[in-house]
Amino acid sequence: MSKVALVTGGTRGIGAAISIALKNAGYKVAANYAGNDEKARAFHESTGIAVFKWDVSDYEACGQGIATVQAELGPVEILVNNAGITRDAMFHKMTPQQWHEVINTNLTGLFNMTHQVWSGMRERSFGRIVNISSINGQKGQMGQVNYSAAKAGDLGFTKALAQEGAIKNITVNAICPGYIGTEMVRAVPEAVLNEKIIPQIPVGRLGEPEEIARCVTFLVSDDAGFITGSTLTANGGQLFV
Ligand SMILES: NC(=O)c1ccc[n+]([C@@H]2O[C@H](COP(=O)([O-])OP(=O)(O)OC[C@H]3O[C@@H](n4cnc5c(N)ncnc54)[C@H](OP(=O)(O)O)[C@@H]3O)[C@@H](O)[C@H]2O)c1
Repeated sequence: MSKVALVTGGTRGIGAAISIALKNAGYKVAANYAGNDEKARAFHESTGIAVFKWDVSDYEACGQGIATVQAELGPVEILVNNAGITRDAMFHKMTPQQWHEVINTNLTGLFNMTHQVWSGMRERSFGRIVNISSINGQKGQMGQVNYSAAKAGDLGFTKALAQEGAIKNITVNAICPGYIGTEMVRAVPEAVLNEKIIPQIPVGRLGEPEEIARCVTFLVSDDAGFITGSTLTANGGQLFV
């Protein structure tokens, strides 16, 4: 029987590419999203992938959402924590709300989701968790103290949890994408993209969401069973770590 994969933020951008790649690889996929019903409906209609709406920053909502997914598709064996937001501001102008929104979604969201599938994975002695962090969690980014802190936190979460999961055949890995051509990045003014960001990327272009999706497909596969606690960097050569 095909395994069930749950992708948070799985209806747009990188998450949509991950959902589609996992479906094409033979998994039963559930794609979560936060509020953009129109995009989610269009995604469901074009792919046939089941979509489920809840906010990953809300622990109770995650519990209810996961229960619905499991009732419809079966136990979640693969979790891709991809949902993420930006609320950029220079630190001296950053509001507590901008700080908390990003931490609650991009870092606490990993706890809220993973905590609720963990016991089941331990009982079944199998699991795959992939956390989508960021190059800016590795190097820090001006104007993104909140985002960089959350994404660096995702890497600590990954390394600690990997040690706990290993004996139960649960792998926990992170991917750090560089700049990928999604709405999140296209929201950056074109002049900034062309004059400041792309010149810093040695391959000379933004990454494609599908290039991150292929990393996920590998990390969740049986072939990757010996890889845990790792950070897979996919950034066009922008940063070597
Ligand atoms: N794009 C990049 O260059 C880049 C680089 C490095 C890392 N990343 C990371 O990759 C991930 C995906 O980024 P992206 O560019 O594909 O983003 P995106 O195009 O903005 O899509 C974000 C997705 O996450 C969902 N989402 C946001 N907040 C949520 C919440 N609280 N609960 C549930 N779902 C939520 C959105 O749902 P709605 O559609 O309902 O809003 C949407 O499906 C993020 O974690 C991001 O930080 C991106």
